[in-house]
Amino acid sequence: MSVSKRKAEHIQIVKNEAVEFERKSTGFEYYDFIHCALPEAHYDRITPAVTFLGKSLSFPLLISPMTGGFHEGEIINRQLAQVCHHEEVALGVGSQRQILEDNRYVESYRVVRKSAPKAVIIGNIGAAQIATMKNLDPVKRMVEIIEADAMAIHLNPLQEILQPDGDRDFRGVRKRIEQIVGELSVPVIVKEVGCGISASVALQLVEAGVSFIDVAGAGGTSWAAIEAHREKRIDLSERFREWGIPTAQSLERISRIKGIRLIASGGIRDGQTIAKALALGAEICGAAYPFLKKLLEEGVEGLCSTISLWREEFKMVLFLTGCQKVSDLTRDKLMLIPAVSPE
Ligand SMILES: Cc1cc2nc3c(=O)[nH]c(=O)nc-3n(C[C@H](O)[C@H](O)[C@H](O)COP(=O)(O)O)c2cc1C
Repeated sequence: MSVSKRKAEHIQIVKNEAVEFERKSTGFEYYDFIHCALPEAHYDRITPAVTFLGKSLSFPLLISPMTGGFHEGEIINRQLAQVCHHEEVALGVGSQRQILEDNRYVESYRVVRKSAPKAVIIGNIGAAQIATMKNLDPVKRMVEIIEADAMAIHLNPLQEILQPDGDRDFRGVRKRIEQIVGELSVPVIVKEVGCGISASVALQLVEAGVSFIDVAGAGGTSWAAIEAHREKRIDLSERFREWGIPTAQSLERISRIKGIRLIASGGIRDGQTIAKALALGAEICGAAYPFLKKLLEEGVEGLCSTISLWREEFKMVLFLTGCQKVSDLTRDKLMLIPAVSPE
């Protein structure tokens, strides 16, 4: 199956089916903020703004990589870029693998830079593809096409082995990442797609010199659930629907590694959770599924309103925990709450 057909199928499934983890959660519900009844701050003077990859964001948010490489992908990417431009948040394009096949849909990626000339835009390619490339010219081209501020490499071993037409050979990926870090003119981000990053993998990635790790943990979109809606391997997809390290646990485990810089995604669904993820060590957060759903249902305006709401909610947490700025949001602002056992 062609890459563009597969990317189109994913969007259709996400539009119409239940694709999130059912039993496993992100783990953020085990943390709560320690309320500060005496904030020494003026609410209107608190700024949720941050700098990411040398550019300013209105608050620490990234629309996580989703699409490109087919006709509707171009429409979605244009709209997502318009939202990012308007709301001053970052955007990742979906896997640029399609341009390895032909030039038919290059515009579906290029459109993001045209629609958001000043935004933080991040390129994207999969682990299995980089391992088999003869040289790194295609990756360099992917960066050029969107004038990317960084390049993300996604690690998706579960998704690949569940796909009937997926890549099964992950040998040589680590070495290739190291090579890309050395040869690319922009910082390299390595991410999962919903199963999380363990401490030992994080350590290898830091040693390989990657600039950011996006944990993309369990509790949000489940790729096994998405693949279960595609042909074949339905039983195995169902069995692995709940596979992965919950996002909060992934963050907690790896945030102490020296030199690590973190992005948190996987089940981030509101401004309070963004604040929790930052307190646990992330610099910014990403979300994919809820933003795509909102865009498809309520258009650019609907998505802009959601992002504004998340921003205000995030700013309220800063005030109510006694923070003057985003960097004040540290682990000591959180308390662990006892697990509430379901009836
Ligand atoms: C429709 C869709 C397509 C995606 N495509 C990509 C992709 O091409 N590359 C990638 O790195 N991640 C991709 N992802 C994964 C997301 O970037 C993100 O890591 C994951 O969905 C977890 O975030 P969420 O729970 O907010 O959806 C995709 C997610 C969705 C929902």
